[in-house]
Amino acid sequence: MRVAALVLAAGRGERLGASVPKAFLPLAGRPLVVRAIEALAARPEVERIVPVLPAADLVRFAALARDFAGADKLAEPVAGGAERQDSMRAGLAALPEGIDLVAVHDAARPLVRPDDVGRVIAAAARTGAALLAVPVRDTLKRVRDGRVADTLPRAECWAAQTPQVFRLALLREALAKAEAEGFLGTDDAQLVERLGAPVEVVEGDPANLKITWPEDVALAEAIWSSRAQGAWPSGSSRAQSAWPSGSSSRAQGARPSGSSGEQR
Ligand code: CTP
Ligand code: MG
Repeated sequence: MRVAALVLAAGRGERLGASVPKAFLPLAGRPLVVRAIEALAARPEVERIVPVLPAADLVRFAALARDFAGADKLAEPVAGGAERQDSMRAGLAALPEGIDLVAVHDAARPLVRPDDVGRVIAAAARTGAALLAVPVRDTLKRVRDGRVADTLPRAECWAAQTPQVFRLALLREALAKAEAEGFLGTDDAQLVERLGAPVEVVEGDPANLKITWPEDVALAEAIWSSRAQGAWPSGSSRAQSAWPSGSSSRAQGARPSGSSGEQR
């Protein structure tokens, strides 16, 4: 099986509101997009990595020093689109011939463990589609107009992460159907689910957080440095993940009001 990866880094990082594009924000001294590439490239089965960047940042990406692990697996970067799904489509179009499986990963998740990448790839190789996810901690409420419409059974609720890995033909079919129907998903697996195809869930690591809000940066740095003392923890159990205690809550952070965009 030939495996390639897309690293989606073409978002605007509006919630982060940093002065540099989110993908170029440093984590332990290297841009998030580079950290994400390194984590994927650490897997020998990943042969090629296509970075997808804002059109305006392609030059900035090209100017990055290429002395990081996995730089030899990098394909020419491609420009993303207005929505994440558009960026995913642009990345798919740039894959080399003969790829069987594609791992779609967010540059905003630089903390993914290579072990977990390997496990989700192995699951997708067996079943056609798989994603990393973690059981939710909180009870989820469906809310409409400020009122609880419904409480979801917590034992059945998982938070989807990336990478999400698919047989390339299956993802292309799912994307074509979504586009024909004008459907925009909030993750890639959702498009495949709409085909009625099974998607396997592989338990990941809560520390594989998506850097979204300003306070996530300090949290990611703390996780990175706690790992640096003992390298990558192996396995997938929650007990092994390095969560610093007392992580800041979004409620205290500078959350812009009225920001409830769907595709985030
Ligand atoms: N992404 C992308 N193309 C887009 C939108 C998002 O490639 N048009 C990527 C982002 O770069 C990110 C990942 O998808 O790595 C997840 O998106 P998110 O965390 O929402 O990042 P942004 O869209 O950049 O942030 P925001 O929504 O706050 O603007
Ligand atoms: Mg977004």
